[in-house]
Amino acid sequence: MSEYSFSQPEIVEEECDILLIGGGMACCGAAFEITKWTKDTGLNIKLVDKAAMDRSGAVAQGLSAINTYMGENDPADYVRYVRGDLMGITREDLVYDVGRHVDDSVHNFEDWGLPVWKQKGDEGKKLRDGGKPVRSGRWQIMINGESYKWIVAEAAKKALGMENIRERIFIVRLLTDKNDPTRVAGAAGFSVRENKIYIYKFKTCLLACGGAVNVFRPRSVGEGTGRAWYPVWNAGSTYAMAAECGAELTLMENRFVPARFKDGYGPVGAWFLLFKAKAMNAMGEDYQEKNYPTLKEDGYDRYAQGHAMGTCLRNHLMMIEMKEGRGPIFMDTPSAMAKLAESMTPKEIKHLEAEAWEDFLDMTIGQCGVWAGENIEPDKQVSELMPTEPYLLGSHAGCAGLWCSGPDDLPGTPEHYHWGYNRMTTVKGLFTAGDGVGASGHKFSSGSFTEGRIAAKSMVKYCLDNKDLKPELQASSEELAEEIYQPVRTFLEHKDYTTAIDINPHYITPKMLQFRLQKIMDEYVAGVATWYQTNSAMLEVAERKMKMLKEDSLKMRAKDLHELLRAWENYHRIIAAEAHMKHIQFREESRYPGYYYRADFKAINDDDWKCFVNSRYDRSSGEWEMKKVKWKPLIAVGEKEPEGIAHAGPEL
Ligand code: FAD
Ligand code: ADX
Repeated sequence: MSEYSFSQPEIVEEECDILLIGGGMACCGAAFEITKWTKDTGLNIKLVDKAAMDRSGAVAQGLSAINTYMGENDPADYVRYVRGDLMGITREDLVYDVGRHVDDSVHNFEDWGLPVWKQKGDEGKKLRDGGKPVRSGRWQIMINGESYKWIVAEAAKKALGMENIRERIFIVRLLTDKNDPTRVAGAAGFSVRENKIYIYKFKTCLLACGGAVNVFRPRSVGEGTGRAWYPVWNAGSTYAMAAECGAELTLMENRFVPARFKDGYGPVGAWFLLFKAKAMNAMGEDYQEKNYPTLKEDGYDRYAQGHAMGTCLRNHLMMIEMKEGRGPIFMDTPSAMAKLAESMTPKEIKHLEAEAWEDFLDMTIGQCGVWAGENIEPDKQVSELMPTEPYLLGSHAGCAGLWCSGPDDLPGTPEHYHWGYNRMTTVKGLFTAGDGVGASGHKFSSGSFTEGRIAAKSMVKYCLDNKDLKPELQASSEELAEEIYQPVRTFLEHKDYTTAIDINPHYITPKMLQFRLQKIMDEYVAGVATWYQTNSAMLEVAERKMKMLKEDSLKMRAKDLHELLRAWENYHRIIAAEAHMKHIQFREESRYPGYYYRADFKAINDDDWKCFVNSRYDRSSGEWEMKKVKWKPLIAVGEKEPEGIAHAGPEL
């Protein structure tokens, strides 16, 4: 028997009322919340995660801060902060909804054992009891969070029961109902450990598989390959599966380009906000100060109020330096630590140094590797910063995602913002949360968990309102199994045609296909190769190349289960990438300078483009339908808000 022989996969069919897809922050929130509302209802809930929940998703390595905690702040101010950071266009109903509920989630984390830093005098006093947290910024609080995901996953597992959770199942596709194509009815996937296909039938599901990583060619190549900032195992599944099921996407042109400690991808928040470090160019100049006046040129200053400016504009000011040859950019860690140490005892200074390391040990251990490997002591030597490759996400400083129904109890909400169930997409029964919900970034870990809780409650209501629903799948289990195992079949059929297993005219390895996707996105869709610039001609080339790539994706091979996983991840990446490209093509302005530039439309054009861009994908024709959707401000403009916020956008 050949070493590559696969047995015919066993087909496991399961039925439940509610399926939670993903085991990250959002799904853990949903799992924790849902059982409170399903007592005595007889509703049956299951969860599937492609990985092991204890360390799955973006919080896998742990975090050193909770970036969304209101405390003494008004959620209305949180909305102002988020819309400012995201250049004015956000779904304020969704953002407010997270803001008003998020603190309860953080209090729960602390109850479950997550250590939250407290101010002097409040040590040992819980947040719930008025304990004052150490804030790194207005919205962020410090934690000792290496085990954050373990703690949250434990609560989720306890609530749902391990008998209702299946780990290491990768969901490939959602299925609509045979009798109603506008309603979701099931999901199909496979085990990444066993020769088994899993088919689920349900009334409703929460699709929360995080954002999209490795869509663009990363800066880490060669021996650094595999290193990325956001979690490599989140491959755009949320966006791709929802799009293929017919759900409307929103602001998929948006992306996040994090400025990070170079090569290790260490986050900068604690350094900027807690340690008050400054970034400078190679000449030691404060480039933010120096380049501020240039914001006027393309009207970007309308979205900056003094130095309080959004993440993309901060990137923009940094990129000017690098493009004009005044890099590298350095984070001045020694001056920041020396300044903090001025009023400290030697013991306190030692503690400060430990915290500087712990910020990364808790969250991005690879950065400690870079520091240790390059003999960098942060109190003695500066570190380089670099804008990374782009990521698609909806929970951090970005807002790509699905168009969702919002809460119905907020005054002034227009009708097109809600159609029944909170966090339901435009497909009946299909809900999302965290990175999945578009137009409402800056939720971070706590907000994503909270959004999962909000969605859970609505899903229960949906089930109770639709008691008689009998889902029927649009395809048979055998057809689905064939489709999912196609890369395996392709391999088995052609593997003996050549003597070198990776070289074969009849198939492409998932790894090679991924390189091709990343090259196209990097060179034509505003990746690092062009300093994040594109134009209509480049996008046309990208479109043509993507079409061929999509055709070739059907020829991906899988020589083992690992490659089968890689093959389907890439398929999801392609759909997410295509959505991103189409949206950038449609929006004829540069709304997010520092994230990407339309070189042919360099200005921000509020008169025509202060609106959402939404899209729908037709799986059978492969066509995208694009449209503008009216944006409406719900929270009054604050005194300190940038001028551009007040622009109402085009009448549509
Ligand atoms: P995730 O938590 O990423 O969960 C996605 C889940 O989906 C995972 O369980 C994954 O295994 C599963 N999955 C994916 N595809 C499939 C599929 N096809 N089938 C089945 N399952 C699938 N937030 C903060 O509050 N503070 C911070 O300091 C902070 N720092 C960060 C630092 C880093 C390095 C990173 C990467 C993130 C940071 N964040 C921080 C952000 C935070 O982690 C995210 O906002 C949050 O985890 C998003 O939640 P989610 O549920 O949408 O996605
Ligand atoms: S992390 O989530 O990976 O840790 P990061 O370190 O960039 O991300 O940011 C943590 C928090 O600090 C986020 O809320 C981010 O918006 C904020 N932040 C980071 N840098 C700055 C800055 N220079 N000014 C204001 N806020 C910042």
